[in-house]
Amino acid sequence: MNEAFASAPGKFVILGEHAVVYGKPAIAIAIDRRFYMSVKKSNEFMINNEAADIRQNPHLRYILGNYDMMPVSVNMDSRIPTGSGLGSSAALSVAFSAAMRALNNRSLNVADIAKEAFEAEYFSQGRGSPMDTSASAHGYGIALNMSKEKEDILWNISKNEHAWNVSRIDVPKMTFVIGCTGIRAATGPLVEKVRKYKDSNRFASDIIEEISGITVEGLKCIRSNDVVNLGKLMTKNHKLLSILGVSSDELNKLVNASLPYAYGAKLTGAGGGGCMVALTDQPDKVCEAISSRGGAPFIVKTGVEGVRTSEKSEQK
Ligand code: MEV
Repeated sequence: MNEAFASAPGKFVILGEHAVVYGKPAIAIAIDRRFYMSVKKSNEFMINNEAADIRQNPHLRYILGNYDMMPVSVNMDSRIPTGSGLGSSAALSVAFSAAMRALNNRSLNVADIAKEAFEAEYFSQGRGSPMDTSASAHGYGIALNMSKEKEDILWNISKNEHAWNVSRIDVPKMTFVIGCTGIRAATGPLVEKVRKYKDSNRFASDIIEEISGITVEGLKCIRSNDVVNLGKLMTKNHKLLSILGVSSDELNKLVNASLPYAYGAKLTGAGGGGCMVALTDQPDKVCEAISSRGGAPFIVKTGVEGVRTSEKSEQK
């Protein structure tokens, strides 16, 4: 193969972000916004047909280090807004891992891709959980540290003192609207902010425990298609994340604007800016409410496939 093509989806977090960093449960769902990539051998490292400095691209640099073949020419096109909590850097790492594997005739085992992509994210951010990379690799819906059923477990990942089991979950048809503030926020510093708070204050640890309990309840609601209680838990999770200091005025504005038309709403991902998500059966009303407060809304499709590779471009 001279050139490998891969794509991987973004995600949103229904419940449990930040707490998951400490090995607590979380639930994430893949969305119909993908990161597309092609990779071929080259004489110099190139991105989108221009010479690039590999040191500026820690995710790619980490993964390239696992292969003898250097350098490569990478073409990428993301439909996932960056720095928005929707997992664009995780999708980049997952797609690049898959493309490099395809190009080098290595196994395309999804667990191996998820693990390699997590290591690349960790290398780049210096912290975090395997939630985003696992959601992007598997697609559909995943839960972390929730299932004890052997047949549901997809893979186990551990790093330093934390361990995560990643399991598949079935997500019934539910309608979600994402609202983006347009403010980019890097995940690493927000995770670090919560860690410092947690290390210096018992109260923050209690909040993380509370988020953990909410997430366990939330999975029961997903299993029974109970949107009313799932929505309530999402809104409660938002309040707890605000107490942890990772919401913002813009996020609160969009969450509050959507609540009259939604079962519940919360920030999604690291916070600080980025996006919020609302669970609703009135998506047009929620979109209007988000737009009227300066946000950029879109209705997401769920039930999407995870990473995939091909010998031809998927894009038209
Ligand atoms: C980012 O999408 C979610 C966080 O929990 C960080 C992580 O899990 O790596 C904030």
